[in-house]
Amino acid sequence: MNLTLIAGARPNFMKIAPIIHEIEAKGAEYGIKYQLVHTGQHYDKMLSDTFFEELNIPVPDINLNVGSGTQAEQTANIMVAFEKYILNHPTDLVIVVGDVNSTMACSIVAKKLQIPVAHIEAGIRSFDLTMPEEINRMVTDSIADFFFTTSDIANNNLRKSGINEDQIFLVGNIMIDSLVRNIDKFKKPPVWDEKNLKSDEYFLVTLHRPSNVDDVATFNDMLQNIVKGVPEHLKIVFPVHPRTRKMIDSAHQDFANIVFIEPLGYLEFMYLLKNAKGVITDSGGIQEESTFLSIPCLTFRENTERPETITIGTNELIGKDYGKYQESIDKIVDGNWKKGGIPPLWDGKTAERIIKFVSEFK
Ligand code: UD1
Repeated sequence: MNLTLIAGARPNFMKIAPIIHEIEAKGAEYGIKYQLVHTGQHYDKMLSDTFFEELNIPVPDINLNVGSGTQAEQTANIMVAFEKYILNHPTDLVIVVGDVNSTMACSIVAKKLQIPVAHIEAGIRSFDLTMPEEINRMVTDSIADFFFTTSDIANNNLRKSGINEDQIFLVGNIMIDSLVRNIDKFKKPPVWDEKNLKSDEYFLVTLHRPSNVDDVATFNDMLQNIVKGVPEHLKIVFPVHPRTRKMIDSAHQDFANIVFIEPLGYLEFMYLLKNAKGVITDSGGIQEESTFLSIPCLTFRENTERPETITIGTNELIGKDYGKYQESIDKIVDGNWKKGGIPPLWDGKTAERIIKFVSEFK
């Protein structure tokens, strides 16, 4: 069986790496080979190449180099380039991960060429169609053939949308495979010594969602409230996504208490997360990683497609309710935050389960 694995943007790389390592370990036994397609949705070294090096992902068989654009431009460019590639490189199954534009674009192309599609991280839903990712999830799951899921909630969402039971495989959280494999290799970023950071004495911030960062007044207000809420003896460290950088540059405000740094690679970012007092974020993946590491997580979104990080884990939704934000920070600082647990099957063995199932597909 010849698989085609798709990766395009930063959060895809930690999901595809464990699949590749499992094929490298068991592929011969199972009769499975793969080709790796990088769509080029992310192209900066710190959003792409660094992850390949740190997570030991081989150089892709092709980089489609699509780059940035509007939602339609980017999706269309990926579709045109991937169709050309796959017509000349036949495959038995296309595997997509997560919810980025590359996920949806390659699924549509494959299905229209009658190539089966498997979706890893299928079935999760925020029910918020203002987010491009929710549309990507819904479209991908409406046409895929095989659904690898992280939770019973995801399974139920799929059932409700008419997916047959025998197409759904509850395998756990693939991103946690990367975390478990690399936890002993997390490394101090330069900012640690430069700013004299200490374990448990800083909050980590990441914000890059259009609804938080694309409007300068909203974003300014958010940063001011973040600073106001954190006691002065604690630092605030903010690795800035390129999308957010443009806003900070145009904000013309001095947020003296925030240490802004360039985006970090996986191992350095995870070091900062693991040692933080808490994390303030709008990322999907960080809600899960903080749950696994028992780090308090305040999510600046109105909803989440990962509800188990709230019901089982350390996450709470804040949205733009800065009263709730302040109360939450106080609880964390006073040591009264919920302890949280780890959802079932978030155990580092998800890739193993996926490849075993794939080897049994007819
Ligand atoms: C994308 C994903 C989002 C994911 C995020 C993680 C979609 C719809 N969104 O959002 O789900 O959480 O990645 O980072 O797929 N840019 C660079 N260098 C790069 C890539 C982007 O400077 O390597 C800048 C460009 O100005 C670009 C902007 O960032 O226009 C946004 O990039 P894009 O890929 O459109 O979406 P993200 O916001 O990164």
